[in-house]
Amino acid sequence: MWFPLARTHLYDGVGLIGVERTGDKANLNYACSVLNTPRVNKVFNFNCFYCHAETVGGKAYLGLGNTTRDFTGDVRNVCDTVRAGANLFGTPGEKEEASILQHRFAIASDYMKSSTVGANPSMTYVYALMAHRDPATLKWTDNRLLEMPTAPPLPVAVPPWWQMRKRKTLFANGELPLHWSFMTLATLMGQESPEQYAQSAEGFKKVKAFVETLPPPEYPQAVNASLAGQGKAVFETTCSTCHGTYGSGGTYPERVIPFSEIGTDRALGDQQTKLDERFVG
Ligand code: HEC
Ligand code: HEC
Repeated sequence: MWFPLARTHLYDGVGLIGVERTGDKANLNYACSVLNTPRVNKVFNFNCFYCHAETVGGKAYLGLGNTTRDFTGDVRNVCDTVRAGANLFGTPGEKEEASILQHRFAIASDYMKSSTVGANPSMTYVYALMAHRDPATLKWTDNRLLEMPTAPPLPVAVPPWWQMRKRKTLFANGELPLHWSFMTLATLMGQESPEQYAQSAEGFKKVKAFVETLPPPEYPQAVNASLAGQGKAVFETTCSTCHGTYGSGGTYPERVIPFSEIGTDRALGDQQTKLDERFVG
């Protein structure tokens, strides 16, 4: 825990709804965790809530898609600073971790950048990280094993987590029947072997169970009941065939609607399909 500037920032936590944190994590910002790496060094890292939580009125709502993170900067600068801090103040193990972080993020950094604040580049940087793992051994390689797109990553919004308990696929485009190990692949920043991957995949069963417990939170501000009632009626007659029903016994139809029918911009769908084809062959 060698990096005094970052340390202040990491501990400027806000109220966290629903989870008590103790030990090393007490008072740590909700978007950070402390963990042991495979090389048995203790490090800070960001967790799912970096993107899957948002603060409203000074409280962090777990599972609410973040709309305010700034991914427009160059992650190389952050990693260079972390490396410099570790070199000055760190133990040998911390220097080792900082050097690995700097090296791997430098390679994937072009895919970790958004053009505007609030837009999330995670679709492409997940692929960028996976592109540097040997599929058989999961060993990191500096060679890019998959061809990455030349166009800049298209930004996406982060969906809320409370539909997951009603869903059979992980993503709204119908991709990935609930295959949570994929999530582990997406977090392959530190793992170094198939054994560690298998261990994480076990852990992700618990993550899945946690996500499925999250209820949608009450809207924290005043609601005009009469307008909301009118909206509910419109929603139920016009929208719910595709967007599902709510309340007890709510369902989510998980329909996949062709672009020709829905009429929205197809650029994101096209980019994602091209990336996914590299993995499904
Ligand atoms: C850097 C940002 C980021 C991080 C960190 C992140 N996610 Fe996501 N997540 C996203 C984005 C963006 C999407 C939407 C992807 C899409 O639409 O194709 C998403 C989608 C999802 C979905 C599908 C939700 C739905 O209703 O479609 C689940 C579930 C999910 N993430 C779980 C996790 C878990 C568990 C973690 C931690 C291990 C995690 N995410 C970490 C950005 C992130
Ligand atoms: C025929 C099916 C269908 C109907 C009916 C429908 N939608 Fe949608 N809606 C979709 C699809 C598919 C998307 C995603 C489109 C995309 O990502 O390009 C979407 C996206 C949205 C979004 C954006 C969600 C986001 O996270 O970006 C909103 C908001 C929305 N719809 C509201 C409504 C409302 C309100 C109604 C009723 C007045 C409605 N929709 C009726 C299929 C439908």
